[in-house]
Amino acid sequence: MIFYFSGTGNSLYVARLLADELNDCIISIPDCINNGTFEFELKDSEKIGIVTPVYFYGLPSIVETFLDKLNLKKYSSFYLVVTFGSFTANTGPNAQKYFSGLGLNLDHIFSVKMPENYVPLLKVPSQDVCSALISDAQKSVHDIVKILDENPPGDYDIHKGKFPGIVSSLCRMIYKDGMTTKKFWVDDACTSCGLCERICPTNAISLQDGKPCWTKDICPRCLACLHRCPSSAIQLGHFTKKKDRYVNPEINFNQEIRQ
Ligand SMILES: Cc1cc2nc3c(=O)[nH]c(=O)nc-3n(C[C@H](O)[C@H](O)[C@H](O)COP(=O)(O)O)c2cc1C
Ligand code: SF4
Ligand code: SF4
Repeated sequence: MIFYFSGTGNSLYVARLLADELNDCIISIPDCINNGTFEFELKDSEKIGIVTPVYFYGLPSIVETFLDKLNLKKYSSFYLVVTFGSFTANTGPNAQKYFSGLGLNLDHIFSVKMPENYVPLLKVPSQDVCSALISDAQKSVHDIVKILDENPPGDYDIHKGKFPGIVSSLCRMIYKDGMTTKKFWVDDACTSCGLCERICPTNAISLQDGKPCWTKDICPRCLACLHRCPSSAIQLGHFTKKKDRYVNPEINFNQEIRQ
């Protein structure tokens, strides 16, 4: 069983590759939360995967919320696969603490570098770089499956960067403020199509007079609304207007409304 969260498709792509190799199924974390489904039947000695992007050098708030509520009757061994754009810092070790605080065993930790999507601060890489990263992810997933099968539990994330402890501590404090929806706004290009309202995994957007309004004070800031708006009309702060948008090209977002 592989639970995933994904704003722009990278983590969904990795979750699918893993599921293909492991002959496993994938389950959307927002769907579980929105449907109130937190109890799952496990097979004996089944490993449970969590696939998620790194947000502010840690887990997205929605993933933590899901773990808080998850109710598994059997002893379960988890593995975590994070996708990231730059580096991961202490995401893995902090996640391990979070899991053990909930009485859950996070046994293996992995990371897969994917195209960056945090455009309020950084840029989406060129198409060539994105293609190379997406193609390399296949090998990374293959290696992960091999390690899961053959190696003992451990932190196999080799993308922590410098001073991971300090970086994560500082950025986690910023994420608390970073979850505010106050900085989202919509420009004149909005055609009132309603897609942003339909795809938001936390139902934080509602169309009022044909324009999106953020009806919750905070959200995980997955940027699905910003990247997937067909008119690139959604902005966050001052620096996103001229930035390219990104969705993982391997995911057919036309068919899959909400991730
Ligand atoms: C709110 C937010 C925070 C992010 N923080 C980080 C970060 O701390 N380190 C990093 O390397 N990438 C960071 N990223 C980039 C994403 O982790 C990366 O692009 C990821 O693959 C996106 O996955 P998705 O397409 O499944 O949403 C961040 C992205 C968002 C939206
Ligand atoms: S997805 Fe974009 S164009 Fe459609 S309603 Fe939302 S902001 Fe407007
Ligand atoms: S409002 Fe936008 S950034 Fe926030 S959860 Fe919804 S889709 Fe993601």
